[in-house]
Amino acid sequence: MKTYLVTGGAGFIGSNFILYLMEKYGDSVEVVNVDSLTYAGNLKNLESVEKRSNYHFEKADVCNRSELEELFSKYDVDYVVHFAAESHVDRSIRDPEIFARTNVLGTMNLLDVSKKFWSTEDGFLPGKKYLQVSTDEVYGSLSEEEGYFYETTPLDPHSPYSASKASADFFVKAYMDTYGFPANITRCSNNYGPYQFPEKLIPLMIHNALNGHKLPVYGDGKNVRDWLYVEDHAKAIDLVLREARTGEIYNVGGHNEKKNIEIVTIIIDTLLSVLPEDDNRRKHISYDLITYVEDRKGHDRRYAIAPDKIKKDLSWYPETDFATGIRKTIVWYLDHEEWMKQVTSGEYRNYYETMYHL
Ligand code: NAD
Ligand code: TYD
Repeated sequence: MKTYLVTGGAGFIGSNFILYLMEKYGDSVEVVNVDSLTYAGNLKNLESVEKRSNYHFEKADVCNRSELEELFSKYDVDYVVHFAAESHVDRSIRDPEIFARTNVLGTMNLLDVSKKFWSTEDGFLPGKKYLQVSTDEVYGSLSEEEGYFYETTPLDPHSPYSASKASADFFVKAYMDTYGFPANITRCSNNYGPYQFPEKLIPLMIHNALNGHKLPVYGDGKNVRDWLYVEDHAKAIDLVLREARTGEIYNVGGHNEKKNIEIVTIIIDTLLSVLPEDDNRRKHISYDLITYVEDRKGHDRRYAIAPDKIKKDLSWYPETDFATGIRKTIVWYLDHEEWMKQVTSGEYRNYYETMYHL
């Protein structure tokens, strides 16, 4: 029986990861979800598992050492999967400090507490592993048309978000190199799927289109991201945790590069093909909503992952093609209007108005 301590489990990828574990392993795992519930954390994502005896929610801040020590005393943790972070680039441009606190100091704190509880006289307890959930954004930006990020690509972050994630990666590397700490790092491309907060491109466009709001495309709309369905990311993380040699770094991506403007048109097309002719929600949806707005400062032009290493070592590949994944995602948002209503009330409105002026 393995005990997973999942930080940020109430966020987008964390909650998908917990649901994946529960589905895959049933009662043969223990899951401890450690989340401080910032604006991005939502326990509704986990309603389907919250009553299970092998699921435990613990409200705690990864920056708070004594809270983490209490949790490591309470549970015999085998795996730490560290998702908790400030995750939105636009917010990092406006307020970098919280990114340094949560993403850098929070990671260092978690590493140090894991090290303390897993240490033995001559190394570490067997079977323990820490996984740092990182991002392809630490590599910086690729040229318009060619090249891929490999695990050997030098880190060259540009935004405060990616700088904080790169710093966190270096702390993980330092703990592996200095203390022989048992860890892996995964660096994934852009995720999409159910439960993503509508500050990110795909859910923001779905929400705006359904409400007849403008669809704000930054700059010329030709920046490229490599999109991966979130469940494929969850599978990759669990595989690395269970099967990879400690110390290894893995890039995770989908070979699914799309320009932002292509994503926006695919969303409009898919909404129109999924919604029945007599559905009232069709009435606002139109290409005329697309609105080019001022570009993001320091906007990285292109991200693309070469997932060769994870394919070769662990036989992982992205199982969900984009047409299938985006359809599933859109159907999920159409079926979860209440969820969207709840997360777009309150603080979200202030954020949207200050950010977009539309
Ligand atoms: P998210 O913003 O949806 O969720 C972050 C979660 O962390 C929230 O539940 C929040 O409450 C929690 N949290 C924030 N600060 C905390 C703190 N101090 N203590 C405890 N919990 C805290 O983020 P996401 O999109 O699910 O991303 C998860 C991780 O994956 C992040 O580390 C991110 O850098 C990485 N990542 C994301 C993507 C992507 O496309 N979303 C791609 C690659 C890597
Ligand atoms: P985002 O979902 O914020 O992810 P990231 O910046 O981490 O890649 O943005 C994806 C792309 O979409 C990025 O190039 C910025 C662009 N974008 C827009 O054009 N309009 C928007 O309103 C948002 C949120 C993003």
